Amino acid sequence: MGDDIFSGITETLFREKAILSEEYSPDVIVERDDEIDAYRSALKDVLFGRNPSNVFVYGKTGVGKTAVTEYVLDALADEIENRPAADELHVHFHNCNDDSVYRTVRSLINSIRGADDDRFPETGLSTSHAIETLYDEMDARGGTFMFVLDEIDHLSDPDTLLYELPRARANGHLTDARVGVIGISNNYTFRSSLSPKVKDTLMEKEIAFSPYDAAELRSIISARAEKALVDGVPQESAIALCAAKAAKDTGSARQAIDLLREGGDVAEEAGAETISDEHIAAAAERVQRGRVQDKLRDQTVHGQLILEAIARLETDDRTAVRSKEIRDVYERVAVGWDHDPLTTLKSIQNHLADLTMLGFLERTEQNSGRAGGAHYQYELTLDPEIVLDTRQSIESDTFC
Ligand SMILES: Nc1ncnc2c1ncn2[C@@H]1O[C@H](COP(=O)(O)OP(=O)(O)OP(=O)(O)O)[C@@H](O)[C@H]1O
Ligand SMILES: [Mg+2]
Repeated sequence: MGDDIFSGITETLFREKAILSEEYSPDVIVERDDEIDAYRSALKDVLFGRNPSNVFVYGKTGVGKTAVTEYVLDALADEIENRPAADELHVHFHNCNDDSVYRTVRSLINSIRGADDDRFPETGLSTSHAIETLYDEMDARGGTFMFVLDEIDHLSDPDTLLYELPRARANGHLTDARVGVIGISNNYTFRSSLSPKVKDTLMEKEIAFSPYDAAELRSIISARAEKALVDGVPQESAIALCAAKAAKDTGSARQAIDLLREGGDVAEEAGAETISDEHIAAAAERVQRGRVQDKLRDQTVHGQLILEAIARLETDDRTAVRSKEIRDVYERVAVGWDHDPLTTLKSIQNHLADLTMLGFLERTEQNSGRAGGAHYQYELTLDPEIVLDTRQSIESDTFC
């Protein structure tokens, strides 16, 4: 039964969907000429057997920091191939996602050693032993090492590594090898958290990536769409809408690309032959819904029940409600789902304060005249329909 449930599905709109995925590294970078120029001047000394500058790259999520860095280092490696006199270049990427200095150094050692050689031990040795081993491995090979430490703000105790590594040659730890460090971060406060000594070295060259505007996003996703989608599939206005929505929200190319892919899915599901503005709008709504659902699921049951109560009040056209009104509906909602409601008004008010702080609610203070004193009124910042749908699906999941 149901053997042929997949047989009717064909891919009609996508030429190569993977090009719209997170893993894809573009071979053409558009709209980042100034940043590429800055990189070029920071790294050019590698071509002449001199130390490259250390580089610190920062900017918000999705603005091309990783993509541009990979692109520039590929181009540098290609150029070195074409120049027999140039020193060998070894590029090692490492994502510092919640790493210790030890684990980061270990991963660099293993990456230099290659898959066939012994792995550096996971535990049992000191960080300074690991750093010495790294220098030995580098010197044994010679040439220039470029270490790209992505999401460097996630590194615990970054000062140690970032003080040591860029100075290794000056301090006599390296004789044959040279080293350049590229640190990438989307955390603006990271810079100020570093010690002044580290700031001076790591930040020899800083390259700031600003959020993209709508015109820039439009040219980035047009270039991507040409490869990923069948010719003529995305309507011009749909591309412009993706760009406009992402520019207005975050200025992230990732967000714009995701929206186009999702829009392609919506169009395909609808059996359409082109991707229109309506498909993009529906995709944006779907993404938004997904985000709200994730956020809601992270809340406690009572937090969720309170939000559901306010959503019900709002769909009845009762917006800006007081905690007492919320409590009445909350109690009914809780019992309806078979949960024991919280009994005191105070505990509900505590939840309301938390939910306000988390951005689910907006709170305004009302003065009810001389006798009444001040009280708060609450409003949802989310679409009440989405809250109600999500709550429904959470409750039905729990019963499965
Ligand atoms: N200028 C550009 N030209 C072409 N593609 C781009 C450009 N900028 C970003 N992209 C694409 O947008 C997506 C996000 O870019 P990237 O991963 O480089 O962002 P990031 O700044 O490193 O973000 P994060 O801080 O989250 O790591 C990737 O798919 C990337 O290929
Ligand atoms: Mg990145």
